[in-house]
Parts: sequence; structure tokens; C-alpha cells
Amino acid sequence: MKRIVLFCSLAAAAWSADLTGNWLSAAPSPNNDGTIRRTYFHLKQEGGKITGTIRAAQFFYAVMESTGGPDGFKLTVGMQDGPTERRAIYEGRLVGDELHVAQRRGETLLPEMTAHRVREGEGAKPARLPLPALHKVRDNGLARTPPMGWNSWNKFAGRVNDEVVRGVADAMARNGMKEAGYTYINIDDTWEGERDAQGNIQTNKKFPDMKALADYVHGKGLKLGIYSSPGPNTCAGYEGTYGHEEQDARTWAAWGIDYLKYDWCGARNIYSDAEMQAVYQKMGDALLATGRPIVFSLCQYGRADVWKWGPDVGGNLWRTTYDIRDNWESMAQIGFQQSELAQWAKPGHWNDPDMLEIGNGGMSETEYRTHMTLWSMLAAPLMAGNDVRDVPSSILEILTNREVIAINQDKAGKQGRRLAKSGDQEIWVRDLEGGDRAVALFNRGAAAAPATIDWTALGIKKAPAVVRDLWEHRDERFTSSVSVPGHGVVLLRLRAE
Ligand code: GLA
Repeated sequence: MKRIVLFCSLAAAAWSADLTGNWLSAAPSPNNDGTIRRTYFHLKQEGGKITGTIRAAQFFYAVMESTGGPDGFKLTVGMQDGPTERRAIYEGRLVGDELHVAQRRGETLLPEMTAHRVREGEGAKPARLPLPALHKVRDNGLARTPPMGWNSWNKFAGRVNDEVVRGVADAMARNGMKEAGYTYINIDDTWEGERDAQGNIQTNKKFPDMKALADYVHGKGLKLGIYSSPGPNTCAGYEGTYGHEEQDARTWAAWGIDYLKYDWCGARNIYSDAEMQAVYQKMGDALLATGRPIVFSLCQYGRADVWKWGPDVGGNLWRTTYDIRDNWESMAQIGFQQSELAQWAKPGHWNDPDMLEIGNGGMSETEYRTHMTLWSMLAAPLMAGNDVRDVPSSILEILTNREVIAINQDKAGKQGRRLAKSGDQEIWVRDLEGGDRAVALFNRGAAAAPATIDWTALGIKKAPAVVRDLWEHRDERFTSSVSVPGHGVVLLRLRAE
């Protein structure tokens, strides 16, 4: 007997000095919402070599290179994400029966995590689900003009909560935005809690009662949107919809949700880009099956030529780019590269160059007017991304310029395109219902510069006597040349001849 006990404790001692095992770091989410942030380290140590996988937020990495051992190790991990490879570095050591480990970002080591041994298989990548054969999802009849509203991500990210959303609804119902057409109040990532025993998705502490919140927003004459991912986790690492597609769609419908943004994110670990269409189709079908009108917003960053199949999966809009940032370079780089996609936009189905940054402080008002103009010329969804509860009147004027919104919401639903480019000067044109045309004279340079309209390029024999300036709100006699401020725009409406 004695001998057996001694043998066991020796074995345990040898085992615990080894990194081999499945380790879990479980810490409260920094968003203070009652959820737990889990990171799994599934490691195998063989002599001087460590192999295995790391699951962190939305990512499932494989260990590609290792140095060191229990007293101090460094792991370079990676994963294939469509055409690109993502890499990360983790450094750590064994302290007693705990794994102390931190991620390295350049020169900085992120806060250290403490991981404990858990059973084999916990946190493993879920089995791949079979995908449906492709078919055309019936058009839901929504979003005949580009959706307008507000989304929490650009300003609030993980800080969005019930109180913010109610405040935003109050403000939008009061400050003229609702009357101007802004309808959807969309909660982005970080509302999610865990699933209950039946697999029903729950909200986290920041959203005590989603149904009550939807009722509140509806009571203001507005609509409520939500966010999820087809993967096991969302971009911010919260619970995704993977394996619960129909169930989640039913839950959202029962809550009174009117809009879903469905973000690829964690799905990148499971499916290839070629499988995106089937994955999104599954949710398109699930939303239709609820019987509730729910706008379907595809967010997969414009991969796999989504504009070609977005309508077939029931998509009302699809992101065409990676995330926008609140600066001129990001906005201009995204906005001005959309011209070639014009042919794919039509009523019910829109290109989405991402949400607005207007009012978030990183650009001048001239630049924000360019942002609003460009998104209107592009027939892009207009999702305000600022704190509309506290917005200067000059910013509100940009967001609620009715004449510019009329271009965005034009019923013909034809996206504008670049007509001419000369250095930093670009002329864009958008054909409107009834033969009117919107013409935007953009100056991408930092200094004011003249723009000259070539009327023949517009197919107009003679310059019109009067044009409407949509930022100045006046009809003007127009010669062919006008001065455009640096990073600015002159937006004109030409009446049908
Ligand atoms: C991605 C999306 C963003 C936002 C975040 C949330 O980055 O592109 O728009 O939804 O995820 O985590």
C-alpha cells in the first residue's frame, strides 16, 4: 500500500513539472458584464519542444515554434485566416501547479493570466457542422433604400449597455435624427452572456432584459438591432451562434429584434472563405423562418466577392471592407475605393463600406462632410457611430442634412461612381430617380483647389443655368469651375433636363 502511494505522488510530481496538459485561464471580462474570458492552452511538452493549440477569444491557434520549458517558455502561434496568416506570441512559466502566461504585443507584455489544469477536451474546437446545399433565399422585402440608424461599436465598443441604448433612443427620437430617417438602433458585440441548459443564448449583466429594451425602443418609434457571429465566438470573444442558428434566430425574434449584423469572426477557424455563402444562407433561412421582418447585415469584410452572392443568402447589406477608423486616411481609403462595386447595389441589397465615424472627433467637420457625402453617393447604409446623446449642433447638421440624405435614400437605388480623377480631384456622379443627378466634387488634397466639371463627360451638352448646392442649401448660377476646400467636397444636384 505504502509503495503505491509513494509511486502515485512521484508520478504526480513528474507530471506537474511538465507543461503537458489542458490549461484554462478564466478571468472576469474587463467589460464588467459578469461574463468570463476564457483562454485555453492545450500543450504537449516533449523534451525541449512544445506543441499544441491555444484558444483565445475568437481564435484557435496552433503552436508553430517554441523555445524553453517549464521554467520559462515562448510560443509562436499561428492560424490561417482566408488568404492571410495570423500570428501571436505567448510567454510563460510553470509556477507550482499554475501556468502563468502572457501575450506579447511588440515590446509590451499584456497582463499575465493564471491558468489551471482542466479536463482533456474542454474548450476544444467544436466539430464542424455540415453545410446546406446552396439555394436562393427568398427576398425579405426590407431595406428598399439603404438602412439608416445608429450602431454602438465605433464609439462604445465593450461599454455599450442598456442605459446607453435607451439614452440613444431618447436622443434620436428628440434631436431630429428619427425624422431625418435614422431608424435602427443596433447593439454591436458584447451584449452576449452564456447559454442556458437548453442552449438558449442569454444576455450578460449589461442588458438585464432585452425584450423590455426592444419594447422601449419600439415605443419611441424606432427599431432594435443585434449582433452575432456564425462562429463559436464573436470578434470580442463572446458567445457566437455556432450550432444554434435557428434557435438564436427564434430568440432574437421573440425579443423583438429587427436587424441582425452577422460577423464572420470566429467562423474563420471552422470554415473556408469558399464556404461563407452556405454559412450565411443558413442564417438567412433561419431569420425568414421566424416570420419576423429582420434586416440581415453580412459582415465578412468584403471577402469572397460577397456582392455577387449577398442577395442570394437573403442579405440586405454586406460589408465591403475591413473596419473603418476615425481618421481621414481610413475613411478616404475605404470610401474612394468603392466605385467598382456600384453595379452590385440595388433596392434591398447594398454595399456597406462600414459605419459612420462622424462626430467621433478624429476628423474635421469638413472631413466629416466628405464622409457623409461619399457614403450618400455610395448608397451606403448610414449608421451613425457617435454618442448621439451629446452631439454638437454642427455635427447633428451634418448627420441630418435632408438634401444629402435624399441622395443617399434615392428610390432608384443606383450607387454613384467615379466619373473622373485628376491628381487629388475626383468627380463622382450618381443617377437619381426621375433623371436628376448628384455630382460630387471631391478634393482629396490637404489644400483648397479648383475643380472643373467636364459637362460633356456627364453627357450634358450645355452647362445648366442653375444647380443646387446641397451643403450650402442654395440654388446657384454655375460656371464650370469651383474652389473645393482641402479634404472637402462640393455636392450638387442637377435637375433633369
Ligand atoms: C468586427 C466588425 C466590427 C465590430 C467588431 C465587434 O471587427 O468588423 O464592425 O462589429 O467586430 O467585435
